[in-house]
Amino acid sequence: MQNEHFLTLAEHFGTPLFVYDAGMVLERYNDLKRFIDHPRLELHYALKANFNPALLTALRDAGCGIDAVSPGEVEYALHLGFAPEKIIYTANNMTDAEFEKVYASGVVMNIGELSRLRKAGFAHPGMSVCLRFNPDVTDGDSAKTMTGGELTKFGILLEDIDKVLDIVREYRLKVVGLHEHTGSGIQKPESFHAAMKALMSIATPENFPDLEFLDFGGGFKVPYKPDEQPIDYVTLGSGIAERFKEFEKSYGRQLKIKFEPGKFMVAQCGTLLTRVNTIKRNRKRLIAGTDSGFPQLIRPVLYDAYHQIFNLSNPEGREEIYDICGNICETGDRFAEQRPMPEIREGDLLGIANAGAYCYSMGGIYNLRAMPSEVVVKGGKVISLRRRATDKDLIDNITGTTESCDMAL
Ligand SMILES: Cc1ncc(COP(=O)(O)O)c(C=O)c1O
Repeated sequence: MQNEHFLTLAEHFGTPLFVYDAGMVLERYNDLKRFIDHPRLELHYALKANFNPALLTALRDAGCGIDAVSPGEVEYALHLGFAPEKIIYTANNMTDAEFEKVYASGVVMNIGELSRLRKAGFAHPGMSVCLRFNPDVTDGDSAKTMTGGELTKFGILLEDIDKVLDIVREYRLKVVGLHEHTGSGIQKPESFHAAMKALMSIATPENFPDLEFLDFGGGFKVPYKPDEQPIDYVTLGSGIAERFKEFEKSYGRQLKIKFEPGKFMVAQCGTLLTRVNTIKRNRKRLIAGTDSGFPQLIRPVLYDAYHQIFNLSNPEGREEIYDICGNICETGDRFAEQRPMPEIREGDLLGIANAGAYCYSMGGIYNLRAMPSEVVVKGGKVISLRRRATDKDLIDNITGTTESCDMAL
């Protein structure tokens, strides 16, 4: 989208404002399908990355499935019209009540703990399950988003395969899928192959004769820094498809291959527009104070993530070095530290790029500031507006969910 479009949207809808390009999301979906050229490829978009209903509806209509990680996400996907068989439920540390609720909806249950597998078998002998394994491959764009290897809570250890098989036999479970997810923002293409190899090593017809699919999670990274080289997904995708076809031969039957991309599908489609209202010099630091803050885009604070920031109102200004801060009562409330930018003046509009994944969806109302409005653009038109809550909405929500109690302990 061009600067002038962002300026128009900010003027019309106010700031802060999330802007998403639905056309780009669909392009990414089709790109991945083209790169991984396998006739039985199924993509399940990781809903946690961005739950905007207009984006999800566009993906549903394109035939995409959903990777859901909570009963709320499952219910939401069903509500939006995703069929149960298009949804995989990959929760961790789920409660019995959560398990039963999702099981009743007919969604495939992906189980990553021996203890949950045993409870599932006891409650529903003969049920169909998918099993999540830890591929023992460690990769991702932050230690906090690496989900394989020694330090993670996710998945069953590969070395526990005999324990898994004992439980499967005891409760006559039908294992229809095997799953792994290495991490978010996988840096090295080799990690995809290593993780696939690890999962395939246990996916034998002797261990699991009823397999219908293997699911290799998400993690396809996109560049966030201006000089970051994108991964060669054409080569990676064809390598993945080849490897899977070889696997199918050794397994002796055709299977589906699934992935659960989040970031790759939505990161680049989103921009957070925020207006600078204060310029201040604190001895050595030149500070640009904006009308957004870290609860609305937490990745820089949580992961030390880099997001490109554009001065949309003054792109040709003389370069200066800024700390770009939010309006939250915390010193760490910065989108960027010591960032060279074209001169920022009070009233300028900034665009924070790659704000489509894990930004709004990880947001909150710390300091009682409501999350921004979201607009979705497609084919040169605004097709959806999700309004920002008012201060009154926030207060009504807090007070409306509070009641006095009189319970003796
Ligand atoms: C199980 C699972 N699948 C898929 C994803 C999506 O990862 P990404 O957004 O990096 O593609 C995640 C994210 O953490 C995940 O935990």
